[in-house]
Amino acid sequence: MDGAELDKLSLPEYIRYIHGLPWEEFITEAFRKSGTFYVSTLYEKALEIKAKAIVELGMMIGQSTHALLKVAMENGGHLYSIETNRDSLPLVGEALKSGGLDTSFWTAIHGDDLEVVKTWVKPIDLLFVDTLHTYEQTLNELKAYSKFIVEHGIIILHDTYVEPSRLVKKAIDDWMNLNRDWTYEDITPHNDGWGLGLLKRR
Ligand SMILES: C[S@@+](CC[C@H](N)C(=O)[O-])C[C@H]1O[C@@H](n2cnc3c(N)ncnc32)[C@H](O)[C@@H]1O
Repeated sequence: MDGAELDKLSLPEYIRYIHGLPWEEFITEAFRKSGTFYVSTLYEKALEIKAKAIVELGMMIGQSTHALLKVAMENGGHLYSIETNRDSLPLVGEALKSGGLDTSFWTAIHGDDLEVVKTWVKPIDLLFVDTLHTYEQTLNELKAYSKFIVEHGIIILHDTYVEPSRLVKKAIDDWMNLNRDWTYEDITPHNDGWGLGLLKRR
């Protein structure tokens, strides 16, 4: 299917289509759709730190979910995806399964991440933040989830460049001013206008 045909698919059809693609084609399609290779960067970073306990905030059509579930399967870990949109969870779950991914390495949680975290107890190796991209939300997510990140664990945040005012990056900067044991690295892939940032606990 070419790009024009893909853009005519309904959302459930498109979700089923992308998760059925072989990995390299999945990455190429994610690039066509979003104009960025953030999915492969995310995958490589997660592999690099041998992440096992992985949490993602915000799933939508599950591009990041696919990449992080692949890591969980390869590392013998587990992915937890937290999403407010009730429709997205079964759609993505079915598509991942029929695309050949092993969803026994995955737990989908329906809910607001700032509510879910109130009862969260598990240590986290890698947290991926990709929800509302507002200043307040990002700051609250960092405050709430960072306490579960293990030593040398990481947080990756999408959309650090998004205007107006690059609010995700502003929240990161303000949070880091109060959390001096973290370092920040811009890991935005080439030609990506959205921005990808990595926080690492020293
Ligand atoms: C940019 S999309 C996520 C894209 C996904 N990470 C990917 O790479 O394919 C943002 C998603 O975050 C969800 N969301 C927004 N606020 C949320 C919250 N407070 N808790 C959990 N999910 C949230 C939205 O419903 C939406 O599906």
